[in-house]
Amino acid sequence: MRSPKHFFQPLAVGAPTPLREVPFKPSRMIHFFDPSNEKMAAKVPDIAKKTDVLLGNLEDAIAADNKLAARHGLIRIARSVDFGDTQLWTRINSLDSPWALDDLTELVTNIGDKLEVIMVPKVEGAWDIHYVDRLLAQLEARAGLKKPLLVHAILETAAGVANVEEICAASPRMQGLSLGPADLAASRRMKTTRVGGGHPGYVVRADPDPANPEAVRPAVQQDLWHYTVARMVDACVANGILPYYGPFADIRDTVACEDQFRNAFLLGCVGAWSLHPVQLDIARKVFSPPVDEVLWSKKVIEAMGDGTGAVMIDGKMQDDATFKQCQVMVHLAEMLAAKDPELKVSYQL
Ligand code: GLV
Ligand code: MG
Repeated sequence: MRSPKHFFQPLAVGAPTPLREVPFKPSRMIHFFDPSNEKMAAKVPDIAKKTDVLLGNLEDAIAADNKLAARHGLIRIARSVDFGDTQLWTRINSLDSPWALDDLTELVTNIGDKLEVIMVPKVEGAWDIHYVDRLLAQLEARAGLKKPLLVHAILETAAGVANVEEICAASPRMQGLSLGPADLAASRRMKTTRVGGGHPGYVVRADPDPANPEAVRPAVQQDLWHYTVARMVDACVANGILPYYGPFADIRDTVACEDQFRNAFLLGCVGAWSLHPVQLDIARKVFSPPVDEVLWSKKVIEAMGDGTGAVMIDGKMQDDATFKQCQVMVHLAEMLAAKDPELKVSYQL
């Protein structure tokens, strides 16, 4: 294990000093686009205004023949588009693929100053992060970058879940994790072909009614992803990095998408991926705290004064712990209000 004394030293001569805190910026939605697709590329300046994070995807969903076009397209777009305060991220190809080395080399040396976060897919353990960490330091030094690039890992292999704490703690570059339910389902041999969301077969059924054993027994669908999301949130927060829900591929099922995003929000995630413009609005709605919760939280914080002791508000007991719960809500609301004038008005901030 690296000594805590050395943890924040650059891993290459001339590379920028690692950050001590992950910047917590609005990142309710990470909108994916294919930089090799001319039509999508043309919409980037417009979409950039509607999303917190724009991500140029080089990995899955980009056909092998388009990999180089996607990489070069992203370099061109990053150089020519004004992203305002929207963060530009990329998802590189997996580390065992023929493209990952050149993805990193070309992106960092050409547009390293435009990118904030590099998403690394199919991370299995700390060793994958260590490899990327050192290579990024070498490339940052070569490119003369002043600000370190951050790394976001997708939690999408059984080994990755087994090693999730070590992955989060592997480098000061770690910015966050996303759940990758499609690859994770395949890796675990889960028998679902859906990307995120529930499954009609995964239920808990009520016991038979002894008075009427033949009667239909109600069954309630359960959340296939609950364990993994909760585990991811704990690993991230324990290491000072940010958890995100990943993709929901049934674009037409906006209701189930909203439910999946909300489950993740309630469990502690800060955002989710958007695969289609319709999901931008869902993520904005879900990952911005509800107005009534923010107003309630402000009321509790005001009534609690220095945050100690107990008070009754509307028949509900409030104490130091609820004060902290309310602070989570208000801090998030304040950050989002600074970006979004409509939210500022609704939150009365
Ligand atoms: C995302 O990459 C997933 O595999 O779900
Ligand atoms: Mg995947």
